[in-house]
Amino acid sequence: MRERGYYGDFGGAYIPEILVPTFDELTEAFAAAQADPDFLREYEALMANYSGRPTPLTYAENLTRHFGGARIYVKREDLNHTGAHKANNVMGQGLLVKRMGKQRVIAETGAGQHGVATATMAARFGLECTVYMGEVDVARQRPNVFWMEQLGAEVVPVTDGTRILKDAINEAFRDWVTNMDTTHYVLGTACGPHPFPAMVTWFQSIVGREARRQVLEEAGRLPKRIYACVGGGSNALGIFSAFLEDAGVELVGVEAGGHGLETGEHAARLASDDASVGVAQGYKTFFLQDADGQMRETHSVAAGLDYVGVSPILSHLRETGRVRFEAATDKQVVDAMTLTLRKEGLIPALESAHAFVRAFEEAPTLSSDDVIVINQSGRGDKDIFTVADALDDPGWREFVRQKAAEYDDA
Ligand SMILES: Cc1ncc(COP(=O)(O)O)c(C=O)c1O
Repeated sequence: MRERGYYGDFGGAYIPEILVPTFDELTEAFAAAQADPDFLREYEALMANYSGRPTPLTYAENLTRHFGGARIYVKREDLNHTGAHKANNVMGQGLLVKRMGKQRVIAETGAGQHGVATATMAARFGLECTVYMGEVDVARQRPNVFWMEQLGAEVVPVTDGTRILKDAINEAFRDWVTNMDTTHYVLGTACGPHPFPAMVTWFQSIVGREARRQVLEEAGRLPKRIYACVGGGSNALGIFSAFLEDAGVELVGVEAGGHGLETGEHAARLASDDASVGVAQGYKTFFLQDADGQMRETHSVAAGLDYVGVSPILSHLRETGRVRFEAATDKQVVDAMTLTLRKEGLIPALESAHAFVRAFEEAPTLSSDDVIVINQSGRGDKDIFTVADALDDPGWREFVRQKAAEYDDA
C-alpha cells in the first residue's frame, strides 16, 4: 500500500483537525497489528472457529453445462457467519478495537449486512454498538434491522439527504467526532480516509488468498477471469488482491447499472462516464456528482451497491487498466439470481448477482479449458422482499397481506 494512503492520484485523508489524533492512533495500531504475526494468527483462528473459514470454492457444474464455455467456479463468501464477506473486515477491526482498549463501536450500513456483522462482533466482544442506516434502507432491509436490534445494537435511521448509505456515513462521522475517545468507527468498505481503504482491503484479502490456493488445487490452473460486484469495493479488492501480479488473470468489477446507464438512474462510478474526481467523505475518488460537486441520487435494486463514491484503490486500478469495470441492470440481476437458484441451488445476494450477470454473458465466449471465478459476496435471504416484489410472486403477496391483516386485528 502506498505512502500516506495515496493510490496514484486517489485516496488521502481529508479529515477535520479534531480527528487527526484518532486517525493517527488507528494507523499506528493497524501498522503494529500487521507487523505482528500473532495478530494474523489470532485473526485467522477467529475466522476459522467463529465465521467458518475457509469458505469453499464451488464448481458450478450445471451453469457451466448451461452456458457451454468456461468452467464456472463460485467463491462462497455467503457461507461466512452473518451471510456475507463483511464479517472478514468487521472481526478484524474488532480485534483492533480490543488492542486500542475502546468500549464502543459505530457503523454505517446500506444493505444491512455490515450492520449485522458489526452488531454480531460487538455482542461477541462485549462492546456497545450504534448503527447508522438511511431511512430508505431501513425500510427495504427490515429483516437485517430486526437482527441488529436483537443482537443488542441501537439502529439509528438517518433522515438527512437522500436517506441512503452516503447519508449514514456522514452521520457516523458526526458521532465519531463527538465520541472519539471511547469509540471506534467500523467503516464497512474500502473507502473513506486513510487508513480505511488499506485496512479493509488487508482484512478482506483472506478471500483472495484462499481462492488462489483453492482454484490451483481444484481446477489445476489460475482463472482466466475473476468477477466481483463493486459497491464501495471491499469484496472485489479482497478477491482481486491475490491475483494483481498474475498478468494472465483478468479482473472484472461489476457495478450497479440500475435502470440502465442511459437513464442516469444507476450507481456506476467506474463503468460509466457519469462520475468525476472529487473529494468527499474524507477521500479523493470518482463520485457521481453534479457540476457544483453536489452528490447525485443513485439507484440500484441492491442496497449495498448504490453508493456515490468508490474505493480509491479501485479508481487507481481502473486508471492503470488492471481492472475492467462493467455494469449490470436491475432486471439482469434478478434474472441471473433466478437462474443461479434453479441451476445450482445457490442464493446469491442481489449485490453478488451483479457479478453473475457479466460472468454469464462472457462464459460462452471462452473455451472449456478456461476457468472463471465469481465472488458470491453474500447470500440472498435478506432480499426476499425485494426479489418477491420484482418477480411479482402471488403466494408471497398473499402471505404479506395475511400477516398485515393479523397485525391490524391485534
Ligand atoms: C452481500 C454484499 N455484497 C457486496 C456489497 C458491496 O460492498 P463492497 O463493494 O464493499 O463489497 C454489500 C454491501 O452491503 C453486500 O452486502
